[in-house]
Amino acid sequence: MTDDSIIKSQEQYAEELFEQDEALEQVLASIREKGMPEISIAAGYGRLLTLLVRLTGGQDALEIGALGGYSGICLARGLQPGGRLVSLELKREYAELAHANLTQAGFGELVEYRVGEALDHLSALEQEGRRFDLFFIDADKGNYPNYLEWAIKLAKPGALVVGDNTFMRGKTINPEQKGNAVTRMRQFNEQIARDPRLEGVMLPAYDGLAIARVK
Ligand SMILES: C[S@@+](CC[C@H](N)C(=O)[O-])C[C@H]1O[C@@H](n2cnc3c(N)ncnc32)[C@H](O)[C@@H]1O
Repeated sequence: MTDDSIIKSQEQYAEELFEQDEALEQVLASIREKGMPEISIAAGYGRLLTLLVRLTGGQDALEIGALGGYSGICLARGLQPGGRLVSLELKREYAELAHANLTQAGFGELVEYRVGEALDHLSALEQEGRRFDLFFIDADKGNYPNYLEWAIKLAKPGALVVGDNTFMRGKTINPEQKGNAVTRMRQFNEQIARDPRLEGVMLPAYDGLAIARVK
């Protein structure tokens, strides 16, 4: 077995330990049906999101990049009663599908979708005085460092920041890759590791996940 196939088999073994999740399978089917990109968070990291929201006391979560609502359901599941999820999504049709899927999963009332450029909404949220316990960054990779700055600004004390796809399917560790998105992702990853305002870890399974606590 090559190193790659061992990693894939281990991920598959871990996935198969868990029962099929009807609500999340339904989200994936709805994304396929609409011909949308099949880029929802990996199942294992979805479960981790639920756990992290629960561990932060789960009152206010913010997601950047909704797609069909897969990670939205995972985040919503970890919220305390009365907790809220704000989800920022560029495309109206995606936000509508995500909202329909969260509604079907029983979370329609606690999520608020804001459609358009996430950076515009982040600045509006600051002006509204909104603050969050957990941020999930999963949108355009070139803006990850900007999203991280906003998360630090909008963080309640001890909030967690989670970022998906930190390896960009191998691009991040390939020195031949010099485009804007991958360069900005490297900057984001370095900040997770070294920014004195953060206490971070990098999980190397699937496509890479960064988690940091805002000090
Ligand atoms: C990887 S998908 C999100 C997957 C989702 N978090 C999940 O796991 O279910 C990235 C999403 O970010 C959205 N997006 C891309 N650029 C954006 C931007 N500038 N502002 C807001 N959303 C953006 C895309 O439309 C897409 O739905």
